[in-house]
Amino acid sequence: TRQGLSAFNCDLVHYQGFWYLDTSMVARIFSARRHFQAQPSDIFICSAPKTGTTWLKALAFAIVSRTTVDDDDDSTANPFLSKTPHECLPILEFTFPSMTPHDDNGSCLPFFNRDPKNPLIATHLPFSSLPESVSDSDSSGCKIVYICRDPKDTFVSMYHFFAKLAASRNMEPIPLDKAFELFCNGESSFGPYWDHVLGYWEASLDQPDKILFLKYEDMKEKTGFYATKLAEFIGHGFSSEEEGNGVVEKIVRMCSFDCLSNLEVNKTGKIAENTAWEMENKLYFRKGNVKDWENHLTPEMAARMDLITEQKLSGSGLTLTYSK
Ligand code: A3P
Repeated sequence: TRQGLSAFNCDLVHYQGFWYLDTSMVARIFSARRHFQAQPSDIFICSAPKTGTTWLKALAFAIVSRTTVDDDDDSTANPFLSKTPHECLPILEFTFPSMTPHDDNGSCLPFFNRDPKNPLIATHLPFSSLPESVSDSDSSGCKIVYICRDPKDTFVSMYHFFAKLAASRNMEPIPLDKAFELFCNGESSFGPYWDHVLGYWEASLDQPDKILFLKYEDMKEKTGFYATKLAEFIGHGFSSEEEGNGVVEKIVRMCSFDCLSNLEVNKTGKIAENTAWEMENKLYFRKGNVKDWENHLTPEMAARMDLITEQKLSGSGLTLTYSK
């Protein structure tokens, strides 16, 4: 274990090449790998923290449940009025291991606490630590959607998230320069960030029909295009009638930073209330911009992070540094 960049200023635990918040996370991974059996209809929404998870969850959920959001005038049709995007999807490493994975015969049951109408499951687990039935090319036929983001913006977002979390718990926030060092050394929750991204990137090259690899910056620029691509990929493509009726635009607007961050449910309340993982919903919405790092990192810090990115991604064919 080592002190790393985490939500709780606690020691991180190293397991299979990645850093985790505590040993319970390692136990959860172990349990999910042992007992979780993916179904062909499952769609995994995967990400490292602070890369646009909330947004991707919202888009995916709005897409798969869109029969209920068709009517623009009916405000009650917006599923995000009553629950945060995080409450719309079970999380593999949190939900699953709390369930008893055995039936009467002692064999494993699938993820049985799930809503049969909702094929989505979220996870921050690195690709290499996913249950085999999820990551294997031919075992289950499930789909994976991954989102990543320029490491500089991911770091800045994480730094602010932890600073606010510390403040809400009357703890000292970790100073920016120290947080930066830890992130650069890979010692952040679910880090090294670059290894997390590379795991999914390489898998997406091997299995392009199974894994859709998205970038936050591209999605900000062409949200409608990527929402359409996402819908098609997960088997919920838009019909020409829906496109003609502006359904794509409605979903994009409903899931936008401005709309979601202004909803009462996201401004107030907490997820995982009364547990060690309790977080205020509003912590998941800060600015939602590309290149906010320019307001927080010195040119030297930015150059250093870019160099690490260049070295880590060298030869992979992937770029993460957003220069527009
Ligand atoms: P910033 O801190 O840069 O604003 P995650 O959901 O993985 O925790 O990532 C959080 C980041 O996504 C935060 O970035 C947050 O503001 C941003 N975000 C949340 N909802 C968003 C949305 N609907 N559209 C774009 N960005 C969003």
